Amino acid sequence: MEKLLVVEDDPAVRTTLVTFLELEGYAVDAVASTEEALERLELSAYPIVISDIYIDQRTGLDVLDAARRRDPRCAVILMTARGTMETVMAATRGGAFDYVAKPFDLDRMLETVQRAQASRAEEEEEAGPEDLPETEMIGSSAAMVEIYKTASRVAPTDATVLIVGETGTGKELVARMIHRFSSRASQPFVPVDCASIAPTLLESELFGTLKGAYTGADRDRMGVFEAANRGTVLLDEIGDVELNFQVKLLRFLQEREIRPVGAARSKQVDVRVLAATNRDLQKMVDEGRFREDLWFRLNVVRIVIPPLRDRRGDVPLLARAFLNKYNARYQRDVRLLETGMKALQEYTWPGNVRQLQHLMERLTILAPNDRIDGDTVRGALSIMESREHPVETLAEAEEEQIRRVLAATGGNKSRAAQILGIERKTLYRKLERMKP
Ligand SMILES: Nc1ncnc2c1ncn2[C@@H]1O[C@H](COP(=O)(O)OP(=O)(O)OP(=O)(O)O)[C@@H](O)[C@H]1O
Ligand SMILES: [Mg+2]
Repeated sequence: MEKLLVVEDDPAVRTTLVTFLELEGYAVDAVASTEEALERLELSAYPIVISDIYIDQRTGLDVLDAARRRDPRCAVILMTARGTMETVMAATRGGAFDYVAKPFDLDRMLETVQRAQASRAEEEEEAGPEDLPETEMIGSSAAMVEIYKTASRVAPTDATVLIVGETGTGKELVARMIHRFSSRASQPFVPVDCASIAPTLLESELFGTLKGAYTGADRDRMGVFEAANRGTVLLDEIGDVELNFQVKLLRFLQEREIRPVGAARSKQVDVRVLAATNRDLQKMVDEGRFREDLWFRLNVVRIVIPPLRDRRGDVPLLARAFLNKYNARYQRDVRLLETGMKALQEYTWPGNVRQLQHLMERLTILAPNDRIDGDTVRGALSIMESREHPVETLAEAEEEQIRRVLAATGGNKSRAAQILGIERKTLYRKLERMKP
Protein backbone atom coordinates (compact mmCIF):
# COMPACT_ATOMS: atom_id res chain seq x y z
CA MET A 1 0.00 0.00 0.00
CA GLU A 2 1.32 3.46 -0.87
CA LYS A 3 1.40 6.23 1.67
CA LEU A 4 -1.59 8.10 3.04
CA LEU A 5 -1.57 11.87 3.35
CA VAL A 6 -2.92 13.54 6.49
CA VAL A 7 -3.60 17.30 6.37
CA GLU A 8 -4.39 18.74 9.77
CA ASP A 9 -3.27 21.98 11.39
CA ASP A 10 -4.09 20.99 14.96
CA PRO A 11 -0.88 19.29 16.15
CA ALA A 12 -2.65 17.16 18.75
CA VAL A 13 -5.17 15.75 16.31
CA ARG A 14 -2.46 15.29 13.67
CA THR A 15 -0.14 13.39 15.97
CA THR A 16 -2.92 11.20 17.33
CA LEU A 17 -4.14 10.33 13.87
CA VAL A 18 -0.68 9.64 12.46
CA THR A 19 0.37 7.53 15.43
CA PHE A 20 -2.83 5.56 15.29
CA LEU A 21 -2.65 4.92 11.54
CA GLU A 22 0.99 3.90 11.79
CA LEU A 23 0.14 1.45 14.56
CA GLU A 24 -2.48 0.05 12.23
CA GLY A 25 0.27 -0.55 9.68
CA TYR A 26 -0.18 2.41 7.35
CA ALA A 27 2.66 4.59 6.09
CA VAL A 28 1.65 8.20 6.56
CA ASP A 29 2.84 11.61 5.38
CA ALA A 30 1.49 14.42 7.51
CA VAL A 31 1.39 18.15 6.84
CA ALA A 32 -0.05 21.12 8.71
CA SER A 33 -1.14 23.49 5.94
CA THR A 34 -3.02 23.49 2.67
CA GLU A 35 0.07 24.81 0.89
CA GLU A 36 2.25 21.92 2.02
CA ALA A 37 -0.53 19.51 1.10
CA LEU A 38 -0.71 20.94 -2.42
CA GLU A 39 3.08 20.67 -2.73
CA ARG A 40 2.99 17.01 -1.70
CA LEU A 41 0.23 16.35 -4.17
CA GLU A 42 2.36 17.95 -6.90
CA LEU A 43 5.14 15.52 -6.08
CA SER A 44 3.15 12.32 -5.81
CA ALA A 45 -0.31 10.87 -5.92
CA TYR A 46 -1.83 9.45 -2.77
CA PRO A 47 -4.50 6.76 -2.81
CA ILE A 48 -6.11 8.17 0.33
CA VAL A 49 -6.02 11.71 1.69
CA ILE A 50 -7.46 12.62 5.08
CA SER A 51 -7.89 16.37 5.39
CA ASP A 52 -9.35 18.84 7.81
CA ILE A 53 -11.72 21.29 6.14
CA TYR A 54 -10.84 24.53 7.90
CA ILE A 55 -7.08 24.71 7.86
CA ASP A 56 -5.96 28.17 6.74
CA GLN A 57 -7.15 30.68 4.15
CA ARG A 58 -7.53 27.84 1.70
CA THR A 59 -9.59 24.92 2.77
CA GLY A 60 -9.72 21.15 2.74
CA LEU A 61 -11.88 21.60 -0.34
CA ASP A 62 -8.78 22.84 -2.18
CA VAL A 63 -6.95 19.74 -1.02
CA LEU A 64 -9.86 17.66 -2.25
CA ASP A 65 -9.74 19.39 -5.60
CA ALA A 66 -5.97 19.00 -6.01
CA ALA A 67 -5.95 15.37 -4.91
CA ARG A 68 -8.72 14.43 -7.30
CA ARG A 69 -7.11 16.36 -10.13
CA ARG A 70 -3.93 14.48 -9.53
CA ASP A 71 -5.69 11.14 -9.32
CA PRO A 72 -9.42 10.96 -9.94
CA ARG A 73 -9.55 7.71 -8.01
CA CYS A 74 -8.04 9.25 -4.90
CA ALA A 75 -10.31 8.74 -1.89
CA VAL A 76 -10.48 11.97 0.10
CA ILE A 77 -11.85 11.85 3.62
CA LEU A 78 -12.74 15.28 4.97
CA MET A 79 -12.97 16.05 8.67
CA THR A 80 -14.54 19.03 10.33
CA ALA A 81 -15.74 20.34 13.62
CA ARG A 82 -17.88 22.87 11.79
CA GLY A 83 -19.84 20.94 9.22
CA THR A 84 -22.61 22.65 7.32
CA MET A 85 -24.98 21.57 4.61
CA GLU A 86 -22.96 23.72 2.19
CA THR A 87 -19.61 22.16 3.00
CA VAL A 88 -21.00 18.63 2.90
CA MET A 89 -22.66 19.50 -0.38
CA ALA A 90 -19.46 20.98 -1.83
CA ALA A 91 -17.53 17.97 -0.57
CA THR A 92 -20.02 15.59 -2.15
CA ARG A 93 -19.97 17.47 -5.42
CA GLY A 94 -16.19 17.59 -5.35
CA GLY A 95 -16.15 13.83 -5.06
CA ALA A 96 -15.07 13.41 -1.44
CA PHE A 97 -15.14 9.82 -0.32
CA ASP A 98 -16.58 10.59 3.07
CA TYR A 99 -17.12 13.33 5.53
CA VAL A 100 -16.34 12.81 9.19
CA ALA A 101 -17.50 15.06 12.03
CA LYS A 102 -14.98 15.93 14.71
CA PRO A 103 -14.42 14.81 17.33
CA PHE A 104 -14.38 11.35 15.78
CA ASP A 105 -13.38 8.15 17.33
CA LEU A 106 -10.34 6.47 15.95
CA ASP A 107 -12.07 3.17 15.24
CA ARG A 108 -14.62 5.00 13.19
CA MET A 109 -11.82 6.69 11.23
CA LEU A 110 -10.07 3.37 10.70
CA GLU A 111 -13.27 1.85 9.42
CA THR A 112 -13.62 4.75 6.94
CA VAL A 113 -10.03 4.37 5.76
CA GLN A 114 -10.54 0.66 5.25
CA ARG A 115 -13.68 1.29 3.27
CA ALA A 116 -11.84 3.83 1.12
CA GLN A 117 -9.06 1.36 0.57
CA ALA A 118 -11.49 -1.39 -0.37
CA SER A 119 -13.50 0.63 -2.81
CA ARG A 120 -11.18 3.07 -4.60
CA ALA A 121 -13.95 2.92 -7.13
CA GLU A 122 -13.76 4.98 -10.22
CA GLU A 123 -15.53 8.29 -9.92
CA GLU A 124 -16.96 10.70 -12.41
CA GLU A 125 -15.44 14.01 -13.40
CA GLU A 126 -14.81 16.25 -10.47
CA ALA A 127 -16.48 19.63 -10.13
CA GLY A 128 -14.52 22.55 -8.74
CA PRO A 129 -15.41 23.77 -5.29
CA GLU A 130 -17.85 26.63 -5.24
CA ASP A 131 -18.04 29.74 -3.18
CA LEU A 132 -19.54 28.70 0.11
CA PRO A 133 -22.64 30.69 0.90
CA GLU A 134 -23.52 31.51 4.47
CA THR A 135 -25.29 28.59 6.00
CA GLU A 136 -28.90 28.57 6.99
CA MET A 137 -28.75 25.29 8.79
CA ILE A 138 -26.52 25.42 11.82
CA GLY A 139 -25.06 22.51 13.76
CA SER A 140 -21.91 20.46 13.39
CA SER A 141 -22.61 17.59 15.76
CA ALA A 142 -22.03 14.12 14.36
CA ALA A 143 -25.80 13.68 14.21
CA MET A 144 -26.26 16.81 12.12
CA VAL A 145 -23.43 15.91 9.77
CA GLU A 146 -25.10 12.53 9.21
CA ILE A 147 -28.27 14.43 8.32
CA TYR A 148 -26.38 16.66 5.87
CA LYS A 149 -24.92 13.55 4.28
CA THR A 150 -28.26 11.83 3.85
CA ALA A 151 -29.92 15.05 2.70
CA SER A 152 -27.26 15.80 0.13
CA ARG A 153 -27.34 12.27 -1.20
CA VAL A 154 -31.10 12.25 -1.53
CA ALA A 155 -31.55 15.89 -2.67
CA PRO A 156 -30.77 15.38 -6.37
CA THR A 157 -33.12 12.39 -6.61
CA ASP A 158 -36.90 12.55 -6.71
CA ALA A 159 -37.20 10.22 -3.73
CA THR A 160 -39.88 10.81 -1.15
CA VAL A 161 -38.31 11.65 2.19
CA LEU A 162 -39.90 11.38 5.60
CA ILE A 163 -38.47 13.87 8.07
CA VAL A 164 -39.09 13.02 11.69
CA GLY A 165 -38.33 15.02 14.81
CA GLU A 166 -39.77 16.78 17.83
CA THR A 167 -41.30 20.20 17.42
CA GLY A 168 -38.80 22.92 16.53
CA THR A 169 -35.96 20.59 15.55
CA GLY A 170 -35.79 21.97 12.01
CA LYS A 171 -37.87 19.56 9.94
CA GLU A 172 -39.11 22.24 7.60
CA LEU A 173 -35.64 23.67 7.29
CA VAL A 174 -34.26 20.26 6.24
CA ALA A 175 -37.06 19.99 3.68
CA ARG A 176 -36.15 23.41 2.29
CA MET A 177 -32.49 22.44 2.06
CA ILE A 178 -33.36 19.26 0.17
CA HIS A 179 -35.40 21.33 -2.25
CA ARG A 180 -32.67 23.94 -2.58
CA PHE A 181 -30.08 21.33 -3.48
CA SER A 182 -32.30 19.57 -5.99
CA SER A 183 -32.79 20.20 -9.69
CA ARG A 184 -36.17 21.67 -8.72
CA ALA A 185 -34.57 24.53 -6.81
CA SER A 186 -35.83 27.21 -9.19
CA GLN A 187 -39.37 25.86 -8.99
CA PRO A 188 -41.80 26.35 -6.10
CA PHE A 189 -41.43 24.81 -2.66
CA VAL A 190 -44.86 24.61 -1.06
CA PRO A 191 -45.34 23.52 2.56
CA VAL A 192 -48.83 22.36 3.50
CA ASP A 193 -49.70 22.12 7.16
CA CYS A 194 -52.02 19.12 7.10
CA ALA A 195 -52.91 19.60 10.78
CA SER A 196 -54.29 23.10 10.39
CA ILE A 197 -56.52 22.42 7.39
CA ALA A 198 -59.96 20.97 8.12
CA PRO A 199 -60.12 17.37 6.85
CA THR A 200 -62.98 18.26 4.50
CA LEU A 201 -60.93 21.05 2.91
CA LEU A 202 -57.67 19.17 2.59
CA GLU A 203 -58.73 17.40 -0.58
CA SER A 204 -59.59 20.58 -2.45
CA GLU A 205 -56.53 22.33 -1.01
CA LEU A 206 -54.24 19.65 -2.41
CA PHE A 207 -56.04 18.50 -5.53
CA GLY A 208 -58.03 21.61 -6.46
CA THR A 209 -61.71 22.20 -7.15
CA LEU A 210 -63.72 22.75 -10.30
CA LYS A 211 -66.29 25.50 -10.46
CA GLY A 212 -69.66 24.21 -9.33
CA ALA A 213 -68.26 21.16 -7.53
CA TYR A 214 -70.19 22.25 -4.46
CA THR A 215 -72.19 25.27 -3.39
CA GLY A 216 -69.83 28.17 -3.04
CA ALA A 217 -67.28 26.83 -5.52
CA ASP A 218 -67.83 29.74 -7.87
CA ARG A 219 -64.62 29.33 -9.80
CA ASP A 220 -61.92 26.78 -10.54
CA ARG A 221 -59.34 26.61 -7.78
CA MET A 222 -55.94 25.16 -8.45
CA GLY A 223 -54.69 22.73 -5.83
CA VAL A 224 -51.25 22.73 -4.25
CA PHE A 225 -50.02 19.74 -6.24
CA GLU A 226 -50.76 21.53 -9.48
CA ALA A 227 -49.50 24.92 -8.30
CA ALA A 228 -46.24 23.30 -7.26
CA ASN A 229 -45.83 21.50 -10.59
CA ARG A 230 -42.13 20.75 -11.25
CA GLY A 231 -41.38 21.78 -7.68
CA THR A 232 -41.57 20.24 -4.22
CA VAL A 233 -44.48 19.87 -1.79
CA LEU A 234 -43.89 19.37 1.92
CA LEU A 235 -46.75 17.53 3.58
CA ASP A 236 -46.18 18.79 7.09
CA GLU A 237 -47.75 17.04 10.10
CA ILE A 238 -48.57 14.08 7.87
CA GLY A 239 -49.44 12.09 11.02
CA ASP A 240 -52.53 14.25 11.42
CA VAL A 241 -54.14 13.26 8.12
CA GLU A 242 -57.37 11.27 8.47
CA LEU A 243 -57.33 7.61 7.52
CA ASN A 244 -59.72 7.92 4.59
CA PHE A 245 -57.74 10.76 3.07
CA GLN A 246 -54.56 8.75 3.48
CA VAL A 247 -55.84 6.45 0.74
CA LYS A 248 -56.05 9.38 -1.65
CA LEU A 249 -52.56 10.49 -0.79
CA LEU A 250 -51.24 7.01 -1.34
CA ARG A 251 -52.87 6.86 -4.73
CA PHE A 252 -51.37 10.21 -5.59
CA LEU A 253 -47.89 9.08 -4.58
CA GLN A 254 -48.23 6.04 -6.80
CA GLU A 255 -49.76 7.68 -9.85
CA ARG A 256 -48.70 11.34 -9.56
CA GLU A 257 -52.13 12.19 -10.91
CA ILE A 258 -54.59 14.66 -9.56
CA ARG A 259 -58.32 14.81 -10.00
CA PRO A 260 -59.72 18.13 -8.78
CA VAL A 261 -62.91 17.86 -6.74
CA GLY A 262 -65.79 17.77 -9.25
CA ALA A 263 -63.58 16.87 -12.21
CA ALA A 264 -64.25 13.88 -14.41
CA ARG A 265 -60.70 13.20 -15.44
CA SER A 266 -57.31 13.27 -13.80
CA LYS A 267 -54.16 14.91 -15.01
CA GLN A 268 -50.51 14.20 -14.51
CA VAL A 269 -48.35 16.47 -12.37
CA ASP A 270 -44.63 16.41 -11.65
CA VAL A 271 -44.05 17.09 -7.98
CA ARG A 272 -41.64 15.76 -5.48
CA VAL A 273 -43.19 15.00 -2.12
CA LEU A 274 -41.47 15.42 1.21
CA ALA A 275 -43.32 14.67 4.45
CA ALA A 276 -42.69 15.66 8.04
CA THR A 277 -44.11 14.68 11.38
CA ASN A 278 -43.38 14.88 15.08
CA ARG A 279 -45.42 11.75 15.74
CA ASP A 280 -44.35 8.17 16.00
CA LEU A 281 -45.85 6.88 12.75
CA GLN A 282 -44.69 3.34 13.40
CA LYS A 283 -46.72 3.32 16.59
CA MET A 284 -49.70 4.86 14.80
CA VAL A 285 -49.46 2.09 12.22
CA ASP A 286 -49.48 -0.52 14.99
CA GLU A 287 -52.55 1.12 16.52
CA GLY A 288 -54.33 1.24 13.16
CA ARG A 289 -54.32 5.04 13.02
CA PHE A 290 -51.96 5.33 10.05
CA ARG A 291 -52.08 3.20 6.93
CA GLU A 292 -49.17 0.85 6.66
CA ASP A 293 -49.01 1.07 2.88
CA LEU A 294 -48.76 4.85 3.01
CA TRP A 295 -46.15 4.60 5.70
CA PHE A 296 -44.03 2.29 3.54
CA ARG A 297 -44.44 4.63 0.63
CA LEU A 298 -43.33 7.69 2.62
CA ASN A 299 -40.59 5.90 4.45
CA VAL A 300 -38.36 5.30 1.42
CA VAL A 301 -35.76 7.57 2.97
CA ARG A 302 -36.11 8.72 6.54
CA ILE A 303 -34.26 11.56 8.20
CA VAL A 304 -34.52 11.63 11.97
CA ILE A 305 -33.52 14.93 13.59
CA PRO A 306 -32.52 14.36 17.19
CA PRO A 307 -33.81 16.75 19.86
CA LEU A 308 -31.44 19.56 20.80
CA ARG A 309 -30.82 18.11 24.28
CA ASP A 310 -29.23 15.08 22.58
CA ARG A 311 -26.79 17.25 20.64
CA ARG A 312 -25.90 19.92 23.15
CA GLY A 313 -22.66 20.57 21.28
CA ASP A 314 -24.75 22.46 18.73
CA VAL A 315 -26.17 24.84 21.35
CA PRO A 316 -23.20 27.26 21.34
CA LEU A 317 -23.13 27.45 17.53
CA LEU A 318 -26.85 28.10 17.36
CA ALA A 319 -26.85 30.56 20.25
CA ARG A 320 -24.03 32.60 18.70
CA ALA A 321 -25.62 32.59 15.27
CA PHE A 322 -28.98 33.74 16.66
CA LEU A 323 -27.31 36.38 18.83
CA ASN A 324 -25.49 37.79 15.79
CA LYS A 325 -28.67 37.80 13.82
CA TYR A 326 -30.72 39.63 16.45
CA ASN A 327 -27.92 42.01 17.38
CA ALA A 328 -27.88 43.06 13.75
CA ARG A 329 -31.65 43.19 13.46
CA TYR A 330 -32.22 45.24 16.62
CA GLN A 331 -28.97 47.19 16.34
CA ARG A 332 -27.75 45.95 19.67
CA ASP A 333 -24.37 44.85 20.87
CA VAL A 334 -25.37 42.24 23.42
CA ARG A 335 -22.67 39.84 24.55
CA LEU A 336 -23.12 36.30 25.74
CA LEU A 337 -20.97 35.51 28.79
CA GLU A 338 -19.48 32.12 29.67
CA THR A 339 -22.00 31.60 32.49
CA GLY A 340 -24.81 32.40 30.08
CA MET A 341 -23.55 29.89 27.55
CA LYS A 342 -23.21 27.28 30.27
CA ALA A 343 -26.79 27.83 31.39
CA LEU A 344 -27.96 27.44 27.78
CA GLN A 345 -26.08 24.19 27.43
CA GLU A 346 -27.51 22.77 30.63
CA TYR A 347 -31.12 23.33 29.67
CA THR A 348 -33.30 20.56 28.21
CA TRP A 349 -34.94 22.54 25.35
CA PRO A 350 -38.38 20.95 25.07
CA GLY A 351 -39.08 23.38 22.21
CA ASN A 352 -35.71 22.60 20.62
CA VAL A 353 -34.08 25.04 18.18
CA ARG A 354 -37.18 27.19 17.84
CA GLN A 355 -37.21 27.76 21.60
CA LEU A 356 -33.53 28.65 21.62
CA GLN A 357 -34.10 31.06 18.78
CA HIS A 358 -36.97 32.79 20.58
CA LEU A 359 -34.99 32.96 23.78
CA MET A 360 -32.04 34.58 22.03
CA GLU A 361 -34.34 37.11 20.42
CA ARG A 362 -35.88 38.01 23.80
CA LEU A 363 -32.50 38.24 25.44
CA THR A 364 -31.10 40.44 22.71
CA ILE A 365 -33.91 42.88 23.32
CA LEU A 366 -34.08 42.64 27.08
CA ALA A 367 -30.65 41.70 28.42
CA PRO A 368 -29.66 44.04 31.24
CA ASN A 369 -26.40 45.93 30.62
CA ASP A 370 -26.17 44.29 27.20
CA ARG A 371 -24.77 41.18 28.83
CA ILE A 372 -26.32 37.74 29.00
CA ASP A 373 -25.13 35.85 32.05
CA GLY A 374 -26.29 32.61 33.70
CA ASP A 375 -28.94 34.27 35.89
CA THR A 376 -30.42 36.16 32.97
CA VAL A 377 -30.72 32.94 30.98
CA ARG A 378 -32.29 31.00 33.85
CA GLY A 379 -34.66 33.87 34.59
CA ALA A 380 -35.82 34.10 31.00
CA LEU A 381 -36.21 30.33 30.74
CA SER A 382 -38.39 30.16 33.84
CA ILE A 383 -40.61 32.82 32.30
CA MET A 384 -40.88 30.81 29.10
CA GLU A 385 -41.86 27.77 31.12
CA SER A 386 -44.40 29.62 33.22
CA ARG A 387 -46.19 30.57 30.03
CA GLU A 388 -47.29 27.01 29.78
CA HIS A 389 -49.36 27.43 32.95
CA PRO A 390 -52.28 29.57 31.89
CA VAL A 391 -53.30 32.36 34.24
CA GLU A 392 -56.86 33.05 35.24
CA THR A 393 -57.65 36.66 36.04
CA LEU A 394 -56.51 39.94 34.56
CA ALA A 395 -54.74 40.81 37.81
CA GLU A 396 -52.84 37.53 37.71
CA ALA A 397 -51.88 38.13 34.11
CA GLU A 398 -50.60 41.57 35.03
CA GLU A 399 -48.58 40.23 37.93
CA GLU A 400 -47.11 37.57 35.77
CA GLN A 401 -46.15 40.06 33.09
CA ILE A 402 -44.45 42.21 35.70
CA ARG A 403 -42.51 39.26 37.05
CA ARG A 404 -41.45 38.25 33.56
CA VAL A 405 -40.17 41.63 32.63
CA LEU A 406 -38.41 42.02 35.96
CA ALA A 407 -36.71 38.68 35.55
CA ALA A 408 -35.69 39.57 32.04
CA THR A 409 -34.24 42.91 33.15
CA GLY A 410 -32.43 41.22 36.01
CA GLY A 411 -34.54 43.13 38.53
CA ASN A 412 -33.85 46.57 37.02
CA LYS A 413 -37.08 48.40 37.89
CA SER A 414 -36.54 51.50 35.76
CA ARG A 415 -35.91 49.37 32.71
CA ALA A 416 -38.87 47.14 33.57
CA ALA A 417 -41.19 50.14 33.95
CA GLN A 418 -39.97 51.43 30.61
CA ILE A 419 -40.68 48.13 28.90
CA LEU A 420 -44.08 47.82 30.57
CA GLY A 421 -44.95 51.34 29.50
CA ILE A 422 -45.77 52.59 33.01
CA GLU A 423 -44.24 55.09 35.43
CA ARG A 424 -41.66 53.78 37.82
CA LYS A 425 -43.87 54.95 40.71
CA THR A 426 -46.74 52.89 39.35
CA LEU A 427 -44.53 49.86 39.13
CA TYR A 428 -43.46 50.28 42.77
CA ARG A 429 -47.08 50.58 43.83
CA LYS A 430 -48.02 47.42 41.96
CA LEU A 431 -45.05 45.57 43.41
CA GLU A 432 -46.15 46.56 46.93
CA ARG A 433 -49.55 45.02 46.32
CA MET A 434 -48.05 41.88 44.79
CA LYS A 435 -46.09 40.99 47.91
CA PRO A 436 -47.65 37.83 49.31
N1 LIG B 1 -30.15 23.65 12.61
C1 LIG B 1 -30.76 24.84 12.56
N2 LIG B 1 -30.06 25.96 12.26
C2 LIG B 1 -30.66 27.16 12.23
N3 LIG B 1 -31.95 27.36 12.48
C3 LIG B 1 -32.71 26.30 12.78
C4 LIG B 1 -32.15 24.98 12.84
N4 LIG B 1 -33.13 24.12 13.17
C5 LIG B 1 -34.24 24.86 13.31
N5 LIG B 1 -34.01 26.16 13.07
C6 LIG B 1 -34.97 27.26 13.16
O1 LIG B 1 -35.90 26.93 14.18
C7 LIG B 1 -37.23 27.23 13.77
C8 LIG B 1 -38.05 25.96 13.74
O2 LIG B 1 -37.60 25.13 12.68
P1 LIG B 1 -38.65 24.32 11.77
O3 LIG B 1 -39.86 25.13 11.50
O4 LIG B 1 -37.93 23.76 10.62
O5 LIG B 1 -38.99 23.17 12.83
P2 LIG B 1 -40.03 21.96 12.71
O6 LIG B 1 -39.28 20.75 13.06
O7 LIG B 1 -40.72 22.02 11.39
O8 LIG B 1 -41.02 22.29 13.91
P3 LIG B 1 -42.61 21.93 14.06
O9 LIG B 1 -42.69 20.45 14.29
O10 LIG B 1 -43.00 22.68 15.29
O11 LIG B 1 -43.27 22.39 12.82
C9 LIG B 1 -37.11 27.90 12.42
O12 LIG B 1 -37.09 29.29 12.60
C10 LIG B 1 -35.79 27.40 11.88
O13 LIG B 1 -35.23 28.32 11.00
MG1 LIG C 1 -42.68 22.39 10.93
